[in-house]
Amino acid sequence: MLQGKFIGVKEDANTFVVEQKFTVRKAENVTIRATALGVYAMRLNGKRVGDAFLAPGWTSYNKMLQVQEYDVTVLVREGENQLAIAVSEGWYCGPLAWDRRLAYGKRPAVCADILADGKVISCTGTDWTARESYIRKSGIYDGETQDFTAPLNKLTPAVVAYDKKNLVPQMCEPVQTTQRIPVKEVIRTPRGELVYDFGQNLAGVAEIVTDADFEGTLTLSFAEILVKGNFYTDNLRSAKATDTFTVKGEAILSPEFTFHGFRYMKLEGAELPPEKITALVRHTDMKRTGRLETDNALFNRLYENVVWGQRGNFVDIPTDCPQRDERLGWTGDINAFCRTAAYNYDIRAFMKKWLKTVRDDQLPDGKIPHVVPDILGWADTDAMWSDVVTMVPWTLYQMYGDLSFLSDNYAAMKKFVSARENAMEDGLVARGHEYGDWLALDKEVMEQESPFGRTDSYFLTNVLHSNTLKIVAETAKLLGKEKAAKKYRGKYEAHLKKMRRAYFTQTGRLAFDTITAQAVSLFFGIVPEKYRTKLAATLNANIKKHGTRVITGFIGTPFLLYALADNGYFETACELLLNEHFPGWLYEVKMGATTVWERWNSLLPDGTPNPDGMNSYNHYAYGSVMEFVYRRIAGIEAASAGFEKAEICPHPCKGLARVYAEYESVSGTVGAGYEQKEGEIVYTVKIPEGMQAYLSLPGEERAPLSAGTHTFVRKLPQEE
Ligand code: BGC
Repeated sequence: MLQGKFIGVKEDANTFVVEQKFTVRKAENVTIRATALGVYAMRLNGKRVGDAFLAPGWTSYNKMLQVQEYDVTVLVREGENQLAIAVSEGWYCGPLAWDRRLAYGKRPAVCADILADGKVISCTGTDWTARESYIRKSGIYDGETQDFTAPLNKLTPAVVAYDKKNLVPQMCEPVQTTQRIPVKEVIRTPRGELVYDFGQNLAGVAEIVTDADFEGTLTLSFAEILVKGNFYTDNLRSAKATDTFTVKGEAILSPEFTFHGFRYMKLEGAELPPEKITALVRHTDMKRTGRLETDNALFNRLYENVVWGQRGNFVDIPTDCPQRDERLGWTGDINAFCRTAAYNYDIRAFMKKWLKTVRDDQLPDGKIPHVVPDILGWADTDAMWSDVVTMVPWTLYQMYGDLSFLSDNYAAMKKFVSARENAMEDGLVARGHEYGDWLALDKEVMEQESPFGRTDSYFLTNVLHSNTLKIVAETAKLLGKEKAAKKYRGKYEAHLKKMRRAYFTQTGRLAFDTITAQAVSLFFGIVPEKYRTKLAATLNANIKKHGTRVITGFIGTPFLLYALADNGYFETACELLLNEHFPGWLYEVKMGATTVWERWNSLLPDGTPNPDGMNSYNHYAYGSVMEFVYRRIAGIEAASAGFEKAEICPHPCKGLARVYAEYESVSGTVGAGYEQKEGEIVYTVKIPEGMQAYLSLPGEERAPLSAGTHTFVRKLPQEE
């Protein structure tokens, strides 16, 4: 794929530049193919090549490395041209995680070919020159130091070994600047800090502009929240998230090889007017596919927060958070959020790339790493986290109808099932690491808060395993593997029987009384059918007992509203969704959140941050609730993979007098919603040509719907 050699420099350099001159004839088409062990950015004749950032992205580098291709015909001139490639540590050899480990290699390197009319005319080697960069140091967590005043010393290029069989073409959209946000407010904090508020928590960087008479160093640091009006960075833990620029004269400045998760920027070294400062939002540039709007401003803000949570955490890989010394591909988080993400944006390419890394990093015995790319070396059979290997491909298949999500991952799924089986005793999973119902607030019987929630974690694993077995059986069937389908169906049935025997009494009482245990038993069909109604009533009562607040964690929350709504308690589901008190989705909004928090109590009612070091204000896991709104309130539901068939089921929710969602599915744009007007309710449904759709309005027979936009007017039931 690339003829060039991977080259780094002999000296110790966090960031460096390699350069080469080349000549082209008029009318030649010129392209550059490049990749790096680290991150890189190119300038051709002084102009930046392309608008991708943080290329080549993050993969399990020793197994797969993406190569980017750029058409640079418009940047070249006849005769001599000069290419300069800046290379930095990035994820490849920059410190990662809280313990700052170096995950892949020690030194960055770059590899590139320059092609004219398809033929390589120059490629990286030791004949290229190397020098220092004005980027003196850059790190994903710590930020970037740029100095335009220091001399740039020569360096010595050196070949770096890398197995080129791992090279693949870029698999998904690049990270780009997708929006520029002006300063909303300039703040002088009680401590005297000069802080600029962009009004939105986001992932990206800041751009600043200096005047001709400026000379000095500007220091920019970033934070998600203010506490007591002051700039607050404790929750970034060891991430310094600081950029410095030493410059003389006029310049437009922004970092190249880092990103921050922030709403506020603190500036030291000068007082710049707000017009000179802009936030650049950066993330994987996916196409927007879903939109949802209601008449409820607080709820609309929650929806925007969920979308912003996705934007802030789809930075080449699906991350937990974009701000602290983590930003890792936590598998449980994306497993919770995947379907919501797929409604909001076209995530096919992004997820395909990441799932390849999941397979690359799966352990030979089938265990799934807790973070992918796996830089922690932690892998096990955790409920929800490890089930990512079955549930995410299954969701993507449902959303997009693309069977390759299943065929690509089928072998990995089966391996994972055997890993779970190795952790079983008497047919039930009984060993291994578990995160449990992570960050649940159901601590009433606990001495002190624990992040694991109160629900028995092996019960949760067995519930999720039941679902995994069902998915593997279905997958085998869809792939035409009848024998395997039967085998996994058999495993599913046997396991379910064991579970029911172990966890339900003879009269149908569930052995655990947590909301999460009850919700997942209903959602995943663990409860014997004849006891379903009773358990649903118990769950409903349990929720009321807890003040109709959300206290469930990463496992309970994504399924909770379905467990209620699909079992006769739609109203309670809506009450939970729209509850404005602590803890709850709209509580966060009322506390000023512009993204979804990691914890229900990330910010306590008195405005103080949760004292735990692990506290992000931009975590998408609880944003997973939005799929419920698309599917059960607006009522846009796939009835077959890829929405060839759709079930349209708008359902008025108390507190939302108007709801309308549109989703650009692979089978066309489908819309649904309702609006309450004096004594009437008007449903609006939009069906694309070729989609086989059915409409179910509350209390009415299901009926086929033709393509086009329809409205249905119904009398509103009288309120008692
Ligand atoms: C991360 C997560 C993750 C969790 C594992 C945290 O540090 O931010 O969201 O899923 O650890 O329990």
